[in-house]
Amino acid sequence: MPTGELLTIPFDVYRYDPADGSTPRYARYTLELAPHTPVLTALLRIRSEIDPSLALRYSCRSAICGSCAMLVNSKSRLACQTQVGPEFAEHGRIVIDPMSNQPVIRDLVVDQSPFWKEYERIVPHLILDPMHPMPEGRPTSMSPAQVARFEETPRCIACGSCYSACPAVAADPAFPGPMALAKLYRFVVDPRDTASQDRLMRIQPGGLWTCLRCHLCTSSCPKDVRPSERIRDLKEMAIAAQGATERGSRHAVGFKDNIAERGLLNESKLVRQTDGIVGMIGQIPQGLRMLRRKPEILRAPHAIEGQDEVQRIYELLEDAGEDGT
Ligand code: SF4
Ligand code: SF4
Ligand code: FES
Repeated sequence: MPTGELLTIPFDVYRYDPADGSTPRYARYTLELAPHTPVLTALLRIRSEIDPSLALRYSCRSAICGSCAMLVNSKSRLACQTQVGPEFAEHGRIVIDPMSNQPVIRDLVVDQSPFWKEYERIVPHLILDPMHPMPEGRPTSMSPAQVARFEETPRCIACGSCYSACPAVAADPAFPGPMALAKLYRFVVDPRDTASQDRLMRIQPGGLWTCLRCHLCTSSCPKDVRPSERIRDLKEMAIAAQGATERGSRHAVGFKDNIAERGLLNESKLVRQTDGIVGMIGQIPQGLRMLRRKPEILRAPHAIEGQDEVQRIYELLEDAGEDGT
């Protein structure tokens, strides 16, 4: 796109004001803009030149404060960090909606209470040993390897993009959400925290396994915090701390063991490992339907050709896990 060129860009902006009794709608505004213009700047121009009633939230305009998160062409983004040119080139217009998974207060402003409530629930501060408080006026020392374990999570600016993008939050409002879990991880791996084990014990039955591993949180994060990877780490640590106590963790462990054993899933065995004998009874109708379509599921699968290579991969992964590489 040549620099200096102005684009004529249509914006379809979500408008809703519960106070005036109107139903939600999209308002069309058209602006002439340079391609590198941030979406936030375009919205502020709409507000100052066309419609002063448009409500939105922002502060720093520099991708630091985290307050301008919204949906830009259906993706959770920071409006101040997203340029209009690429969005227009891909979609032919720019559709702006408020963040998902949080109730709309007005136009693009959402009530972030659910997001902050989950953050509060993970107890987002170090819990120290009262017998060994931090030395006053002196730094505590940590090795580079210890610091490296949580170098990403402090980058979080609490913008809520990941919470908005998360289908597990949409499906189950009790799910803590990616940001809260990434922060929880940060305290679990901090060697100064004395509640790590307790935090892990509480999170496995507290919704950890509701995460679908879709990675939408990671792709929507403007600061590369990679919450889905931290949730994966938490799952491994929770199983190491207390075993597979939840349906989700039993399923994950069963899946891994099945593949290690024969390179293929033994579906009836996996159901037994996940739900136990009693749980299997509830799945009899579904099992009979599967049996009609695929009678071979009754036979335990033979090991696949090259199973020794699968086992070698498992060994390499286990070695890598042990030395932390
Ligand atoms: S990976 Fe998990 S936490 Fe992240 S968006 Fe998907 S379901 Fe939500
Ligand atoms: S993890 Fe990323 S997307 Fe989620 S709140 Fe923090 S900065 Fe925003
Ligand atoms: S206005 Fe602060 S992050 Fe966008």
